[in-house]
Amino acid sequence: MNKPKILVTRKWPVEVEQQLQRLYDVKLNEEDVPMSSYELKAAMQNNDALLSTVTDSISADVLNVKDRQVKFVGNFGVGYNNIDVEAAKNQDLIVTNTPGVLTECTADIAILLLLMSARRGSEGDRHIRNQEWTGWRPTHMLGHKVSGKTLGLIGFGRIAQAVAQRAHFGFGMNILFFNPNPVNKEVIAKYNAIQCDTVEDVLSEANFVSLHCPGGPTTRHLINEQSLKLMRPSAHLINTARGDVVDSQALVKALKQGWIAGAGLDVFEGEPNIDKEFLDMDSVSLLPHLGSATEETRIAMGYRVLDNLAAFLAGEEPKDRVV
Ligand code: DGY
Repeated sequence: MNKPKILVTRKWPVEVEQQLQRLYDVKLNEEDVPMSSYELKAAMQNNDALLSTVTDSISADVLNVKDRQVKFVGNFGVGYNNIDVEAAKNQDLIVTNTPGVLTECTADIAILLLLMSARRGSEGDRHIRNQEWTGWRPTHMLGHKVSGKTLGLIGFGRIAQAVAQRAHFGFGMNILFFNPNPVNKEVIAKYNAIQCDTVEDVLSEANFVSLHCPGGPTTRHLINEQSLKLMRPSAHLINTARGDVVDSQALVKALKQGWIAGAGLDVFEGEPNIDKEFLDMDSVSLLPHLGSATEETRIAMGYRVLDNLAAFLAGEEPKDRVV
């Protein structure tokens, strides 16, 4: 019997790729070059399943390609705003993601950015590398204290709760959050958290605001000029969610004009082509979308996609089905 034909759009951890090779007739992306929409369409016509990720735009145009053979899209990542979900639904496609396995590592990166922004970590590193450091002095590079401050979370899902765990128990921070859906009372009690009725309430109260909402049309530019003006001038904004949740032009303006003190960004609008103005600003700490970037997590993400694919091929309901 012929093995199912599987296409993987980007390079994956070696051990997961080897497992794919053992099980399927698999086409890997050795060069790790992002696929064009033309190549994605061809892949849709010539394979049984497509294993995509955040850098692949699986648009309606790609999904609606004539003679599509792919019936399963296994997205490597918890976010799946790279896929046109409505088009996928209309086309009877099955789409899965990889929740759970990247929670801890992404929360670590949110805390890393929070500390980098508050304590001027990347600025200090640049200062030394540029050989500008003349020695310790009482007023050199003062940042903002983190311990005991208030952290506002926009969204209170798995990753936000893991950030709350670190911030509340590690740094004694007070937790505020906004979540559009009801949250388990025991979880709220665990962090002694306060649930706010609006995003605006969180923005105006918190010393640090960390974004944990999904990307996509409903959250695009949730953080804009108006909302940044609500924040405290001493506040820091942390984004490990999706770049387009923040209007980057508005953020540049907010940082330049001192509406807020700093920002820590792991994700960007239009990444990897980030707003050039960020590059010259000391008040913004930048990371190249490292949220889930640990060996352990990326391997776990790969196996999670494989589990979903195996269930689909066995005619069972994949555990992480989102469409
Ligand atoms: C995720 O899992 O959503 C990461 O941001 C990579 O897509």
